[in-house]
Amino acid sequence: MNEPIAVKKQRQINIVLNQGNEKTKIDDGATLAGKEKALEQHHPLLKMEKDLNRLVGMEDLKYHVKEIYAWLHINKCRQELGMKAEKQALHMLFKGNPGTGKTTVARKLGTLFHEMKVLSKGHLIEAERADLVGEYIGHTAQKTRDLLKKASGGILFIDEAYSLGRGGEKDFGKEAIDTLVKAMEDQQHDFILILAGYPKEMERFLKLNPGLPSRFPINISFPDYSVEELMEIAKRMLIEREYLLTRDCEWKLKNHIEKVKQASNGSFSNGRYIRNMIEKAVRRQSVRLLNESSQDRRTLMTIQSDDLVLEERDLI
Ligand SMILES: Nc1ncnc2c1ncn2[C@@H]1O[C@H](COP(=O)(O)OP(=O)(O)OP(=O)(O)O)[C@@H](O)[C@H]1O
Ligand SMILES: [Mg+2]
Repeated sequence: MNEPIAVKKQRQINIVLNQGNEKTKIDDGATLAGKEKALEQHHPLLKMEKDLNRLVGMEDLKYHVKEIYAWLHINKCRQELGMKAEKQALHMLFKGNPGTGKTTVARKLGTLFHEMKVLSKGHLIEAERADLVGEYIGHTAQKTRDLLKKASGGILFIDEAYSLGRGGEKDFGKEAIDTLVKAMEDQQHDFILILAGYPKEMERFLKLNPGLPSRFPINISFPDYSVEELMEIAKRMLIEREYLLTRDCEWKLKNHIEKVKQASNGSFSNGRYIRNMIEKAVRRQSVRLLNESSQDRRTLMTIQSDDLVLEERDLI
């Protein structure tokens, strides 16, 4: 109800003050008011985009978030006009290698969906096979139901979900899958289920469970990062922690990442690897600084080449 009045007001003022150039000013005024309203109205999306833009890459994910937001928003507009607004399940599959940001993103989505009132709480419950699968008949269903209860109003994020299909028909993992599927049907909109795992294993798992893929309308890939992206991740992590690398150190890190990526054969842990390297360098730098007399701001911030110790086992 507020919008037409604001637009009208703006138009009236423009007509009075700018008689020679009425038309342009009317349009500008309307556009400006429209933009302002859009900014205000889409605050959750803008906030989320700002937050997601702190993450390097992830174009697929950023698009999906916008799509979900737009769909929810338009549905709300339709409802306000008494039109049909279908509900859709927002269960998701995340496919990506270690350290590609799956858990980080799931946590952020919980917050967004809470702000958009899709989830009443927006918290994240992280689980893996052992949290769902029990030791005797009936135990698994109970454990899985308990977890679902905890996740109610939020996101249930099951990491390495393919391990539920590991033992075939007789394994209790199947009981966990059946209980999850039942919950997805019974209380479709009480929680969001995210199954996450490494791409190949997830593909195999979904093929073995043909009823599953269609229950997950949102499928997001988390590709491995390039060397440039990993360097950018490192820079952002350093800025966040108020550290910086000398040029030599930056060069050394980049060289090392190139080698590790080549040697790793798909087992490289992407962002987590970078985080571990940085945290280790920070600890080393602290030890070096213990013996230095000058501890000004610049010194405390700077990570030198010597602080970055690359051991053989770091090549994994
Ligand atoms: N795009 C990115 N930009 C900045 N930091 C990132 C990005 N992706 C991952 N990271 C960082 O890398 C680390 C590992 O990320 P996260 O734990 O979300 O990965 P994951 O995909 O869940 O890994 P796993 O499959 O092993 O559980 C975190 O510290 C995260 O902040
Ligand atoms: Mg994870």
